[in-house]
Amino acid sequence: MIREVLRMGDRRLLRRARPVEAFGTPELLALVADMRDTMAHLSGAGLAAPQIGVDLRVVIFGGGPSARYPDAAAVPDTVLINPLLTPLSADEEGGWEGCLSVPGLRGWVPRWTSLRYAGFDAAGVPVERVASGFHARVVQHECDHLDGILYPMRVRDFSRFGYTEVLFPDGSVAADD
Ligand code: NI
Repeated sequence: MIREVLRMGDRRLLRRARPVEAFGTPELLALVADMRDTMAHLSGAGLAAPQIGVDLRVVIFGGGPSARYPDAAAVPDTVLINPLLTPLSADEEGGWEGCLSVPGLRGWVPRWTSLRYAGFDAAGVPVERVASGFHARVVQHECDHLDGILYPMRVRDFSRFGYTEVLFPDGSVAADD
């Protein structure tokens, strides 16, 4: 079921979400299914449970290149619950980000270049991967949602934060969040 995505300004996006304690339950599987439906409907690269008002540490991401992120290298379709992120170095790189909770805007956000992420899938099976580039960026963006952090809070250079259709008038990044 497609769910409504909360937009920036809603206090529910600012909470530190609670850990999932029971895996494989009908409720958790239904949540993940709703998140997938919602993300696909909006052509998102990822979605976090708090964005649909659910106070749990659940994110999904993946799908590879899309209208919103045409240059994205393929990112594996992933359900990541109770995630733990560990940078592999202190190196950071900037990149453009958007967010389904911040429609119509893009900002240039520094992120760790490479990291290890660990957590569980919806059945409770451990997930552990090393990621870099866009894959690492998406994981950091989505997991930030679990700590009440939206990407504009990470923008350092506000000359590179604005409306997608103004920043990218040639449509090089889709403007239709
Ligand atoms: Ni987001």
